[in-house]
This record gives sequence, structure tokens and C-alpha cells, in this order.
Amino acid sequence: MIVVPGEKAQELAYRVSKLAGCKLLRTEFKRFPDGELYIRVLDNEAIDNEDVVFIQSQRDQNDAVVESILMSDILRDEGARSVTLVASYLAYTRQDKKFNPGEPISIRVLAKVYSQLFDRVITINPHETHIKSFFEVPFICGSAVKELASYVKDRLNNPVVLSPDTGAIELAREAAEVIGCDYDYLEKTRITPTEIKVAPKNLHVEGRDVLIVDDIISTGGTVATAIKMLKEQGAGDVIVACVHPVLIGDALNKLYTSGASEVIGTDTFPSPVSKVSVDKVIWELLRESGF
Ligand code: R5P
Repeated sequence: MIVVPGEKAQELAYRVSKLAGCKLLRTEFKRFPDGELYIRVLDNEAIDNEDVVFIQSQRDQNDAVVESILMSDILRDEGARSVTLVASYLAYTRQDKKFNPGEPISIRVLAKVYSQLFDRVITINPHETHIKSFFEVPFICGSAVKELASYVKDRLNNPVVLSPDTGAIELAREAAEVIGCDYDYLEKTRITPTEIKVAPKNLHVEGRDVLIVDDIISTGGTVATAIKMLKEQGAGDVIVACVHPVLIGDALNKLYTSGASEVIGTDTFPSPVSKVSVDKVIWELLRESGF
């Protein structure tokens, strides 16, 4: 096995190559004057007849999709025996169905493309797991929630883990198992036409520290509202953990000024809160895939 990094996953690719004890190839990433991508693998002679793992992050969605297509062309052309795409953050997974007529199912068409280019695709906590059915090659998903929970475990007093909605309840369950505590999801109730209440469905948070777990925090709106309401309900410290800290614009500030005591995320792409690495999760998935 040899590892090739994508432009935005150079640290993660290095960490995985260290765990695997394998060669990390040298690359070059540039832009043509008009903005088009130029990529090159400098150690191209090392590719022939090798199982190559291309590790990229797709946080800058469109560039990353093109990068993966160009990289597969290099790796196939240089004679790789197999080519695995590891997309620590897989883009376009939130458009996993038609929400309105006339829309694409974005991840379905990208899955078709990746299935032509790669022998398998590995990712961490995709927004929806049913997207597996769109792939014609093995699509292997891991979870970084246990790593996030372990990171905060000893800092919580009488804790409860909450997901912001029913969709992420499985993530809350996973974290609660590591911490050894209760878990629940937050339910939104409309009190009046202009007033909503967000509270745990079954539990009370008064006097308890809360860990909110979600796959993605984007604008921070969902979680900021939840933090404010939990504080009003008497919660102690509220720590926010997410796998993919997209954190657009003032999202991080919004979370802290709503009462979060800490925000943590992983390094599926570099961010100010990427305190937990998914390197071991990726290496474990690769090992399970026969590497
Ligand atoms: C939605 O289902 C996701 O799990 C996240 O809760 C959502 O993407 C968060 O978005 P935002 O941070 O913009 O509220």
C-alpha cells in the first residue's frame, strides 16, 4: 500500500501513512492562471503495480471532486493495481434525494462517477448512510464519534448526550456508550406561531453537563438555539462535538455566545476546532478492507 494526499488532506494522509508504515508520495498542487487545477504525483515511478490509497478532504467541494477525477487518471495511467478513494469528508451528501422537482440527486451522480474511477470509497460519518446504494463499488463508512466522546469523557459532570434531532440519535447513542451515560434527542415544539421550545424528548438536563453530538455543524443555527434553551432549562456545561466542523462565517462565535463551553471537531478537514484525529479510524477501515 502507498498513500497519496489530496491538497487539503496532507496532514491526515501523513498520519495514516505513519500508522500503515507505508510510503507517502510527493505531490504538486497548483492552479493555472485561469483557475483550473494542476496536479502531479512526483514519485510516479512508485505507483506501478501498487495498491494506492488517495486520501483527500472534500470541504472545498468542487475543487475536490475535480481533484479526485484527475488523481484517478494519474494513478490508473501509472499502473496502480488498485485505487482507493478515502474522502474523510464526502461532499454533496446532503443532496441525497430530490427535495423539489427538477433537482439532481447530487451524491447519486457523484457515486456513479467514483464507481467508475475507484475500486472502493471510504468515508467518515456521511450525512446519510442510505447513499451506499448509489455506489457500484464497496462504499465503506466509519464513525469518529467514539473518538470525540473519549476526548471529552472526563470533563463532564453527571452527563447526558443529546442529538439535535432524531436523525443523529445513533451518534448520541454511540457517544453515550463511551461515556457511560444517558442519551436522548432534542425535540422542537411550537408553543405559539412565533415561539418554539427545544428540549430533550425524555430527559431533564437541570444540573447536568450536556454533550451535543452532530455529524455536521454548518451555520451553527440548529445547535445555537439548542444551547440557549438547554441553558434556560438549567443545564451545566454544554460541550458541542461534531465530526465535520464546516462552521461557516460566524458559526463558531454563535455557538460560544449561545453558551457552549467548548466546541470540538475532527480533522476530516482542518478547522480551528479540529482537536480529534480520524487517522486511526481510517487506518482501521483500510485494514478491514484488506490492507
Ligand atoms: C442536519 O441534519 C445535520 O445533521 C446538521 O444538524 C445540520 O447540517 C446543521 O446545520 P446548521 O449548523 O446550519 O444548523
